[in-house]
Amino acid sequence: MESILKSKKIFLEAMNTRYACKEFDVEKKISDDDFSFIMEAGRLSPSSFGFEPWQFLVFTDPKKKEEVTEFAWGGRERAAGASHFVVALTRKGDMKHDSEYLNNFMRDVQKLPEDVIEMKTGFFKGFQEKDFNLLEDEKTLTDWSSKQSYIALGNMLTAGAIIGADSCPIEGFYKEKTEKILAEKFGVNTDEYNLSYMIAFGYAKDGNKHPKTRRKMENIVKFM
Ligand SMILES: Cc1cc2nc3c(=O)[nH]c(=O)nc-3n(C[C@H](O)[C@H](O)[C@H](O)COP(=O)(O)O)c2cc1C
Repeated sequence: MESILKSKKIFLEAMNTRYACKEFDVEKKISDDDFSFIMEAGRLSPSSFGFEPWQFLVFTDPKKKEEVTEFAWGGRERAAGASHFVVALTRKGDMKHDSEYLNNFMRDVQKLPEDVIEMKTGFFKGFQEKDFNLLEDEKTLTDWSSKQSYIALGNMLTAGAIIGADSCPIEGFYKEKTEKILAEKFGVNTDEYNLSYMIAFGYAKDGNKHPKTRRKMENIVKFM
C-alpha cells in the first residue's frame, strides 16, 4: 500500500512538472544510463496488435542535429541545446496485413506458432479492411501506424520527467522536406518509413519553465 502511494506520488509529480522545454542548456548532457531508461519506456510501449511500427533515430552530434532540423521551425532551437534529439519514424506499407514484415514479426518477435499467425493475420485483415477502413489509401494506413508511435512519445516524455530530464515533443517541421533530408543525408528509406515526430531531450536553461495550464477534470471526464 505504501509503495503504491509512493508510486502515485512519483508519477503524478512527473506529470505535473513535465513541460515542453523551449530552451535547453547545451552544457548539460543526459547520462547514457538515464537516456537508456527513457528509450526503454519507448521500447516497452504498447501498440495495436503489438506490431511496434516505430524506429527511433537518436542524434547527439551538433552538426547532424542542425542538418536534420533544417526545416523544423518548431524544433531547430530546441535541437541545438538538446543533449539527445530523437526522430521518430513509423512503418508505412509494411503494416498491411499480408506483408512479409508482419509475418516475420509474428514469428520472430512475438514467437507465435504458425496456426496462430494465420488466425491473427485473418483477424487483422478484417480489422484493417472493415473495422477501421485502413486500406482505402496509403496515407490512412501510414497515419494509423504513426498513431501508435505517439503512445511511445508520451511514455518517453514521462520517463524523462521521472528522472528529472527535460523534453520537448516536436511536430513543427515541414514533413516532406525533412523526409528528403532523412533520405539524402541519413540513409532513411522513405518508401518504407514515415516521419512522425521529433523529441528534444536534455536539461532546461534556468528560469525557462512555464506554468502548466489544463482544463478541469469535470470538463474532460464524463462518467456514463
Ligand atoms: C505532438 C506534439 C507536438 C508538439 N510540437 C511542438 C513543437 O514543434 N515545438 C514546440 O516548442 N512545442 C511543441 N509541442 C509542445 C506543446 O506546445 C505543449 O506540450 C503544450 O502546449 C502543453 O504544454 P506543456 O507540455 O508544457 O504542459 C508539441 C506537443 C505535442 C504533444
